[in-house]
Amino acid sequence: MSLRLIEGGRGQGDAPGLLIHGASQIATLAGGLRRGASQGDLALLDAADAGGPAAPSAPVVALWDGRVVGVGPRDRVEARLEANGYSLARFARLDADGGVVTPGLVDPHTHLLFAGTRERELVLRQQGAGYLEILQAGGGILSTVAATRSADAETLAAHGRRWLDEMLRHGVTTVEAKSGYGLDLATELRLLAVAHRLDAEGPVSVVPTFLGAHAVPPEFRTRPDGTEAYVRHVIDEQLPGVAAQGHARSCDVFCEQGVFTADQSRRILTAARGYGMAVRLHADELAPSGGAELAAELGALSADHLHTPSDAGLAALAAAADGPAPTVATLLPATTWFLMAGDAAPARRFIDAGVPVALGTDFNPGTSPTPSLPLVMTVACLEMKLSPAEALAAVTVNAAHAVGVADEAGSLEPGKAADVVVWRATSVEQLPYWVGADLVDVVVKRGRVVYRRGA
Ligand code: NIG
Ligand code: FE
Repeated sequence: MSLRLIEGGRGQGDAPGLLIHGASQIATLAGGLRRGASQGDLALLDAADAGGPAAPSAPVVALWDGRVVGVGPRDRVEARLEANGYSLARFARLDADGGVVTPGLVDPHTHLLFAGTRERELVLRQQGAGYLEILQAGGGILSTVAATRSADAETLAAHGRRWLDEMLRHGVTTVEAKSGYGLDLATELRLLAVAHRLDAEGPVSVVPTFLGAHAVPPEFRTRPDGTEAYVRHVIDEQLPGVAAQGHARSCDVFCEQGVFTADQSRRILTAARGYGMAVRLHADELAPSGGAELAAELGALSADHLHTPSDAGLAALAAAADGPAPTVATLLPATTWFLMAGDAAPARRFIDAGVPVALGTDFNPGTSPTPSLPLVMTVACLEMKLSPAEALAAVTVNAAHAVGVADEAGSLEPGKAADVVVWRATSVEQLPYWVGADLVDVVVKRGRVVYRRGA
């Protein structure tokens, strides 16, 4: 174990350090991206192996100035901290009380910022309406676009704070947040600026993504060449403005039959790369659309949804997984569930093919109005047959890779951000098992306790 002093940063009251002890298990997720047989490797430290959570060599996590500085048996961690010049007196103590400890969860796919709600579509779908059918009739994404265009930054920020707070209470400390309900430059920039501001406010880290190509807006739909004209507008007008603003870390496209083709998506994403943005895609959500193939071709950070990938798309992602820059398959089982699709993305095929799998909420007002990654883990276990351990890796280390923040988040290793969750559960298998329960006891963000049950 390497311990190092990190200067500056934030303290815990008077104590710059925090020692989390008394855990039944610590899932460290150390060791990098998970795929294939390692998808469910949690790098787990189990107090039972040491004689129980209170035993001298039970596992602990030590945090200092917002960073992880030690993980492992308490006696060894404390000895090494002292040997490296840390005074144990300067560590506050946090008793996990026999609970499980994990890294803060990372939600790698959300449409965090929007105005209005769409509960009526649930009933329309129950009556047989299709998702794209509602969209083509001017509802769906387009009704949220109308509401979002008329919402000011303060309104959007208040909405964002409300739902980030919900996410935090479900153990989430990092959130990817897409624009995409503006579909004009001014509103897209407003959404990205609000996401950036919420990140600066904290405590949850917010990583903005530009999704100008989420749908063709009404003012272009009436034109015969509407989709193509809008693609050119995204490339020529929106992307330069978004790049100049500098908040979006990556660019996303809804690559789907009836929305944007693989060729149009390629042009948009290639232009985005030219501005130094990473790329990601909504790929093969409703029909095989060449999205998985395109993600692999472009070296995308992530290909998302993948409910209906082609065999060639799956093979392309598997080949990319063996290369230097694997594309993560970010699966969104709450969406297929909420759309009453009747099945889910072929997660086991991805895992068997060695493709790294992440899970996200897809939080949005139409297809997945849930802020809860633990609920998504449950749905992944039930609908996609992920094991609880595979699901936990998918919302931590692999999700951090999908967002491009793996240097900071997703695992408990020396040098990483001190983002930690203490759960009211005595084994990691219980996290998806207590369906819909409120299991989060304490959330630590950058070394500070930012949420405590009942406080
Ligand atoms: O990921 N599929 C496209 N976008 C979102 C849904 C957005 C909406 O319906 O408002 C998704 O499911
Ligand atoms: Fe989405």
